[in-house]
Amino acid sequence: MKIVTVIGARPQFVKAAAVSRVLRKSHEEILVHTGQHYDKNMSDIFFEELRIPRPDINLGVGSGTHAKQTAEMMVGLENVLLEEKPEYLMVYGDTNSTLAGALAAGKLNIPIVHVEAGLRSYNMRMPEEQNRVLTDRISSLLLCPTDTAVDNLKKEGILEGVFNIGDVMCDAVLYYSKLLDNMPREYYFSHLVGLFQPIPLLDSWYMATIHRAENTSSLETVKEILKAFNGLDAPVIFPVHPRTKEIIKILTKDENYHNVLFVEPVSYLDMLFFVREAKKVVTDSGGLQKEAYILQTPCVTVREQTEWIETLKGNQNVLATPQVEDIIDKVLNTVADNGKRELYYGNGDAAKKLCDIIGNNIK
Ligand code: UD1
Repeated sequence: MKIVTVIGARPQFVKAAAVSRVLRKSHEEILVHTGQHYDKNMSDIFFEELRIPRPDINLGVGSGTHAKQTAEMMVGLENVLLEEKPEYLMVYGDTNSTLAGALAAGKLNIPIVHVEAGLRSYNMRMPEEQNRVLTDRISSLLLCPTDTAVDNLKKEGILEGVFNIGDVMCDAVLYYSKLLDNMPREYYFSHLVGLFQPIPLLDSWYMATIHRAENTSSLETVKEILKAFNGLDAPVIFPVHPRTKEIIKILTKDENYHNVLFVEPVSYLDMLFFVREAKKVVTDSGGLQKEAYILQTPCVTVREQTEWIETLKGNQNVLATPQVEDIIDKVLNTVADNGKRELYYGNGDAAKKLCDIIGNNIK
């Protein structure tokens, strides 16, 4: 069976790393990179480190407004689909690359496989929520990571072609985290490139990322979050997404964020190491919340809601508003109850289940 898979943004490279390895044993896959993420350390480094097959096609779309970016991707993808005539188009998650792939295939009546279907924040102001709701609506196979996601689809009347396969990101964490102990702490620290200063070797740290539009579109919000980091009891390692970099540069001119170590984006294996060994994770990323959960590091999520509600059980993950006092309080005073942990995200065989389902659903 021929499948065109569309990827474009960082978390999708990780998902493809877990899936393509298994998928290619039984199916033909054409991998298309939209080019949504294009910096070396946002894209290439993942392909090298995770040994993801090189994309067969790179559309090189790059950044732009939502409409421009999505539209350019759709035009490029339509050409690929007309040329390749696949049995399925597969997309991951909730980015603009996901929606572009789904819309291009939907109009050509090519069945869509949506991996990570059924997630909802119920906050329609988020571009990601719009992308996932629209993609689910026109997908034929909706491969959900959790029971919650299956239930969410049921509430919207989507019952057909829905399967809980577990989380392909969990496959990746379990597979790649085994490699972490091959190297000492010094090795991982030697990869950190400080934006403003060299990074010292630490025994104890918090790991933080902030890049969501709802947090980074206002200077004041980022300022609050950074002030909170200044009030924590260990240094905060903060890999800075390109979206956040300009704001950080402006804010650090007026204020000394002495407790924050700003670094360039890190590779996947490095991230797994720094998350696994951190006191806690502070983030607004969906992927990181789950990676922290699987690696048993407590997490504070700076958002109004999370799609990964299972992580909230036993305070493994708590939500915080982007305000100094709330973030400091949640980071310092929340105690996670490890007894409440369950294998909500599967046991690492989601990619295998995905391949079996695709094989059994030949149209
Ligand atoms: C996208 C996803 C988000 C996901 C994130 C993972 C959408 C709507 N959002 O957000 O759900 O969590 O990827 O990282 O698709 N930029 C660069 N170099 C790059 C990539 C981006 O400089 O390699 C800059 C550009 O200025 C761009 C901005 O970052 O305008 C935002 O990038 P974009 O791809 O629009 O969305 P992300 O914030 O990365």
